[in-house]
Amino acid sequence: MQKILIEGGVPLNGEVQISGAKNAVLPILCATLLADEPVEISNVPHLHDVVTTAKLLAGLGAEITIDQGTIGKGSESGIVVDPRSVHSHVAPYELVKTMRASVLVLGPLLAKYGAAEVSLPGGCAIGSRPVDQHIKGMQALGAEISVDHGFIKARADRLKGGRVVFDMVSVGATENVLMAAALAEGTSVLENAAMEPEIVDLAECLKVMGAQIEGAGSNRITVHGVARLHGGKHSVVADRIETGTFLVAAAMTGGRVTVRGARPDTLDAVLDKLRQAGAELDIDGDRITLDMRGRKPRAVNITTAPHPAFPTDMQAQFMAMNCIADGVGVINETIFENRFMHVQELQRLGADIRVEGHTAIVRGVPQLSGAPVMATDLRASASLILAGLVADGETTIDRIYHLDRGYENIEEKLSGLGARIKRIG
Ligand code: EPZ
Repeated sequence: MQKILIEGGVPLNGEVQISGAKNAVLPILCATLLADEPVEISNVPHLHDVVTTAKLLAGLGAEITIDQGTIGKGSESGIVVDPRSVHSHVAPYELVKTMRASVLVLGPLLAKYGAAEVSLPGGCAIGSRPVDQHIKGMQALGAEISVDHGFIKARADRLKGGRVVFDMVSVGATENVLMAAALAEGTSVLENAAMEPEIVDLAECLKVMGAQIEGAGSNRITVHGVARLHGGKHSVVADRIETGTFLVAAAMTGGRVTVRGARPDTLDAVLDKLRQAGAELDIDGDRITLDMRGRKPRAVNITTAPHPAFPTDMQAQFMAMNCIADGVGVINETIFENRFMHVQELQRLGADIRVEGHTAIVRGVPQLSGAPVMATDLRASASLILAGLVADGETTIDRIYHLDRGYENIEEKLSGLGARIKRIG
């Protein structure tokens, strides 16, 4: 079992390249199933979840060609998916249980082949993660859906355009229904849709393939179904969560870091909170420079909410920052029911955190002290790395397979900024 070992105390300085967004490339890979021709996707991050999705598509019969670019240096790698040889519409439990996003093949398979069987994804560390909104959306487009023996079984001769009003904002349900509606007969309207930048990127890719979509990025998306979608090329949007993670690392260590290849317009709420924490930010095109001028950050209050509000995927990272900030920061997690798994691990490093329901009260301490800790989910593992960067002495982080799902070569990128970090075992 590999671990990450960090010797804390080094202010980060330098430049780091941001990779393509995990939460954009996963639905985009699933969307390739809708096409009648090969689809070429570039700026693909080298992540375990990308490999899992490629295996899922190959298991359905698609031809996958991966062009291994220069890993970690802009990761110009690409994937070509040729869906013309797809012969199955069953997404097996063995794959779905390792990655919930596998449920995103439901919409494309249903729209393209009229049938789909997708294992229920089940919960994960941060919550029960139901898919009722995905099912509601498919039914609104005319699908017959049954759920039994752990499988979602869906069928439809041809999906018909319809109106879907989501009960709550759901990124995955919006993506699934958007993909299904692209090939449905007639017009569909998605109300209370998620507005995340990854939705916009998915819509851009679908439009390249010939889909007719208006309003992606707003809470109402209109889709005029077409008879077929052709191939095309799309470059994945920069990962706003990776961007925010590196900027928080710079803020915590009191350094000066420039992230390259970023999309500043996709993380306004995060940048605002970093300014509140006392960071000086300079934005120049796809580059964001954060300079703390050696100061400690001020504690900030966070309430997570759907985009454009503060993203839940940055909650754990800001909690790590609040652990060593001046003052008290209050963090409200409103999206997931159990996304404080990093608290007890941060407490092992000496953090002063009190949890009351979905609220964590974090009182900054002068210094964290290094210790062995355990990653529990993707963003929690990132927060432990950030804490290790400032903790006195050595921190080892176990179960880092969580980390590899969503961060491309994070220890190489942090080493490039001066961190004393390495992977062992
Ligand atoms: C996506 O998950 C992201 N994953 C998550 O990132 C992210 O935290 C989340 O959106 C919120 O922004 C991917 O894009 C692959 P939701 P998703 O549907 O789509 C409830 C990371 O760390 N809900 O927006 O699963 C749900 O339980 C991961 O990169 C229902 O009740 O999230 C949650 O409380 C973690 N029924 C809330 O809605 C449904 O049918 C938001 O979930 C669907 C969701």
